[in-house]
Amino acid sequence: MDINRAQAANRYKAKSIARLDRPMRLSGLIGVLMVCAFPLASSAQSGAKPPANGQYVPRLGDIMNAAQMRHMKLWFAGQTRNWELANYELRLLKASLVEAASLYGDLPVDNVTTMVKPLEAVGDAVAAGDSRRFARTFGELTAGCNACHQLIKHGFIVMRVPEASPFSNQVFTPRGKP
Ligand code: HEC
Repeated sequence: MDINRAQAANRYKAKSIARLDRPMRLSGLIGVLMVCAFPLASSAQSGAKPPANGQYVPRLGDIMNAAQMRHMKLWFAGQTRNWELANYELRLLKASLVEAASLYGDLPVDNVTTMVKPLEAVGDAVAAGDSRRFARTFGELTAGCNACHQLIKHGFIVMRVPEASPFSNQVFTPRGKP
């Protein structure tokens, strides 16, 4: 990635992060995705190298790792009916996906946009405090992750609904009750 590209990438990153300071709206996510429909990085698989001007561009794999963690925390927050935390994790998960789409323009945009619906459905379940709907929509969201991995020939990266929390240092029940 050359300096101009890196700077452009960072401008988009800053923009998308600024948008995420307030509760993310569907139109905002789509807007960012549209803007980023042209390529900024040469290859989704190559990962970004730190540019010469010292500005740090996170590697796609690292952004995805963050998405994985938020996907997991979102699940446990929903499981314990901690809707406030679930809402927060969902916002961070969206931010990771927006960041991936904005920095790595050659990701299949269709597949990023197909994430919009399940993300919104999970958001509705969280807002309604509906555990059953949360579980169902979370499954749809997870299928969306896998659909993109398959499309980009990374079908060996398979996400699923988590079974046990590895985050023993974080309390997921509401109001910090252990
Ligand atoms: C639009 C496409 C797309 C979507 C949607 C997507 N991913 Fe990914 N994901 C990728 C790509 C591309 C890679 C490979 C990144 C690399 O290695 O450069 C990847 C890699 C990963 C990895 C491997 C990282 C590692 O270090 O082990 C994980 C975990 C991951 N994604 C989780 C998720 C989760 C969770 C979701 C859904 C919430 C998701 N992804 C949605 C494209 C996507």
